[in-house]
Amino acid sequence: MMMIRRILTEDLDAVRAIAREQLHETYSEELFRYFFEDHPGCFLVAEEKGRIIGFILTIPQDYSMLRIIMLAIKGRWKRRGIGSQLLSQAEGYAALRKLHTIVLEVSTGNAEAIAFYNNKGFKVTGVLRGYYNDGGDALTMTRYLPV
Ligand SMILES: CC(C)(COP(=O)(O)OP(=O)(O)OC[C@H]1O[C@@H](n2cnc3c(N)ncnc32)[C@H](O)[C@@H]1OP(=O)(O)O)[C@@H](O)C(=O)NCCC(=O)NCCS
Repeated sequence: MMMIRRILTEDLDAVRAIAREQLHETYSEELFRYFFEDHPGCFLVAEEKGRIIGFILTIPQDYSMLRIIMLAIKGRWKRRGIGSQLLSQAEGYAALRKLHTIVLEVSTGNAEAIAFYNNKGFKVTGVLRGYYNDGGDALTMTRYLPV
């Protein structure tokens, strides 16, 4: 059975491996550790049979907004609703703290993630030229939670 829970120290390597495999940008070990130490409630993993198969990392901003920094599911566990469940937990966290806007950046070439966020009711609210280290562009996508 799959479960979603807060990240623990021993999950950090598995999470970094998923990030390396699935995300556009490379993130340092220090960055993961910083989020782990400073925002543990915003860093959730999906675990199945003792294995980490996905995670979401968010951060509250400006007292009104939750930013999704990273969301990734391991290859063969995609399209099984796990990304949806991680997002929904993050939205629950946002609602509890009265953060009514969820925002994220996604690469313009990342069709699967754009399809996912469209499916979740996010709308494109901006284009960021040269956002990524390799010069690639990003879309800003936003969803307003019902107040
Ligand atoms: C984006 C991502 C997190 C989605 O996770 P997931 O667990 O596969 O998503 P779900 O199974 O919950 O999908 C929910 C819905 O989103 C849409 N969706 C998800 N992946 C899709 C794809 N590849 N193509 C089209 N629609 C897709 C579908 O409507 C899907 O519902 P359905 O399977 O009933 O048709 C996953 O594809 C991923 O890890 N991608 C690589 C990392 C990444 O790009 N992260 C986002 C960066 S901001």
